[in-house]
Amino acid sequence: DVYVDADELSRAVAVQFASTINAATAAGKKCVLGLATGSTPVMVYRELVRLHKEGSLSFRNVITFNLDEYYGIHPDDLQSYHKFMAVHLFDHITDMDPSNIHIPKGLLHESEVQRHCDEYEAAIEEAGGIDLQLLGLGRMGHIGFNERGTSRESRTHMVYLDRVTRLDAASDFFGEQHVPRRAITMGISTILKARRILLMAFGENKAGTAARCVEGPITSQVPASFLQEHPNASVLLDLAASSGL
Ligand code: GLP
Repeated sequence: DVYVDADELSRAVAVQFASTINAATAAGKKCVLGLATGSTPVMVYRELVRLHKEGSLSFRNVITFNLDEYYGIHPDDLQSYHKFMAVHLFDHITDMDPSNIHIPKGLLHESEVQRHCDEYEAAIEEAGGIDLQLLGLGRMGHIGFNERGTSRESRTHMVYLDRVTRLDAASDFFGEQHVPRRAITMGISTILKARRILLMAFGENKAGTAARCVEGPITSQVPASFLQEHPNASVLLDLAASSGL
């Protein structure tokens, strides 16, 4: 789907999130959301916060799982995805049970990583699986932190970040040398198990990758291309990001 600009696209995504939450509330069910970080979803969260403050959106029955977190980062660090989610969403939500918020831990001893990843997968399953998963698009086609070469079968795991990803994050960390080398991310199979997936991308610097994601061969060299195999995934682009299609 192509939208005129990032604003219109973000509102459309927020509407889908709000209606998924409201439908679950009306049915007396839990709603399990998969959430993303990066600059792309910021306006979606702003719109959800607006709806919440206005009184038309409750998070009482919402359970969330974030895609990823840098490894070796403290949750209070400015660049951590824990901090990002607090600032952009969770700090503004007044009726959500904090124990329903899940984000991979960035501060773990190496020996604890595998167990944490297994527990993260188990928690998603125990919650009933993800109803709606939000994704951004990395410059080389990564989703979450599943870089080029990640297997279709991957589950939540520790990864080494691509040079390009670290360069893109350099300004947030005030220099490439400060960007963590590793991260913990849901795997591609974890993401593809979601019942509905929305990938969003804006701007002309995403145009080439967006085209490879939608129209290119399905390959682990472009992890986002695996979405083509999903029965209920949509790629939402603004005009600039759609210019390579
Ligand atoms: C990071 C995140 C991804 C995100 C990507 C793109 O790599 N782990 O989840 O999609 O950045 O970021 P942006 O939305 O800022 O372009």
